[in-house]
Amino acid sequence: MADEESKDWILMVTAKSPTNIAVIKYWGKRDESLILPINDSISVTLDPDHLCTTTTVAVSPSFRSDRMWLNGKEISLAGGRYQNCLREIRSRASCFEDEKKGISIRKEDWENLHLHIASYNNFPTAAGLASSAAGFACLVFALGNLMCVKEDLGAISAIARQGSGSACRSLYGGFVKWNTGYDVSGRDSIAMQLASESHWDDLVIIIAVVSSRQKETSSTAGMRESVETSTLLQYRFKEVVPKRILQMEEAIRNKDFTTFARLTCADSNQFHAVCLDTCPPIFYMNDTSHRIINYMEKWNQLEGTPQVAYTFDAGPNAVLIARNRKTAEALLQRLLFYFPPPGAELTSYVLGDVSILHDAGLQEMKDVEALMPPPELKCQIPFKRHAGDVSYFICTKPGRGPMILNDKNQALLNPNTGIPQ
Ligand code: DP6
Repeated sequence: MADEESKDWILMVTAKSPTNIAVIKYWGKRDESLILPINDSISVTLDPDHLCTTTTVAVSPSFRSDRMWLNGKEISLAGGRYQNCLREIRSRASCFEDEKKGISIRKEDWENLHLHIASYNNFPTAAGLASSAAGFACLVFALGNLMCVKEDLGAISAIARQGSGSACRSLYGGFVKWNTGYDVSGRDSIAMQLASESHWDDLVIIIAVVSSRQKETSSTAGMRESVETSTLLQYRFKEVVPKRILQMEEAIRNKDFTTFARLTCADSNQFHAVCLDTCPPIFYMNDTSHRIINYMEKWNQLEGTPQVAYTFDAGPNAVLIARNRKTAEALLQRLLFYFPPPGAELTSYVLGDVSILHDAGLQEMKDVEALMPPPELKCQIPFKRHAGDVSYFICTKPGRGPMILNDKNQALLNPNTGIPQ
């Protein structure tokens, strides 16, 4: 930067990234600091209209240090994961020129320029909905754009991976595979898109955010303990996952819901079995999670072919994937029958794409009260309804990957001060 240039400029980029849900789970690392997994995993990217992180990154010669605000609160960037992502992105930066604004940044200048970062999740961080996946994907994607990084999305995903493993899969929309890779440097441990979100657009996803008072073991700590103590994990990554990955890829290619659902449920259940096989055992699911599994299994059994797949990450929330829109309506009717809203209104209880609620004939509370027990319950009278066990539902679908937001009004940092607005 030549001295005569104004020191007042601030260069800013805002991006939006989705979160993702694994249908073949990542659980266990072979390298803790590079975040290299012991097995391949496959995920579905969730529609960022309903669940996403928005991040603004800014650079200016007037900034005195790297700073970050998450949901409006300043947080430390000192952690190794942030530092690794910042270092990797900076080392790939290229020069930037904007003659009109008098901005000229040479490749080597990026090392000395400080960053301000503001990030916001459009869903409660505390709800346990993979906020770190969307967060690191968005951070790295936005920084890559700001710093004119010329590498492809695969290489960008390998940087996001160093923030949080599952984040690498959020760089793409639709159906995504994270390849374990072989190289010790981790450069081939990258995500790739298997199919875009439009390939299989029948699928509907309903997330049950399950009420929980329990402090959960973090994924990072949990998987470390599983690697150290679980013999089932050894069997899983050597014998089970490689076959399931191939079958899942084929099921996605052929839009074969029966196989997709069978594998998704089996893999979630095996992941939680590995957690139980860990010493000391880790319990991520609670009674409500188990109840949801039972209800879904009973329904699928009654129908003869799976109508819905369930999967649970490192927490009690259920992610339910319905075969199509009609099935999603029947699913929502069941969910609201089993878990009626504890309050008097539906609008804060069913979020996201609420048109499913209307199509299912559930406009008002009286419609929910009038719901009949699902047929698969017929031999279980009296049945119990569980108001209060689910905090809320989010209706969504497979969605697109990260995007740059060109609308300046969506920036989270003030363009004149570089401080959250
Ligand atoms: C159960 O990606 O959160 O959600 O790499 O340590 O940050 P770190 O872990 P993280 O683990 C996700 C585990 C999982 C399964 C999955 O998303 O594949």
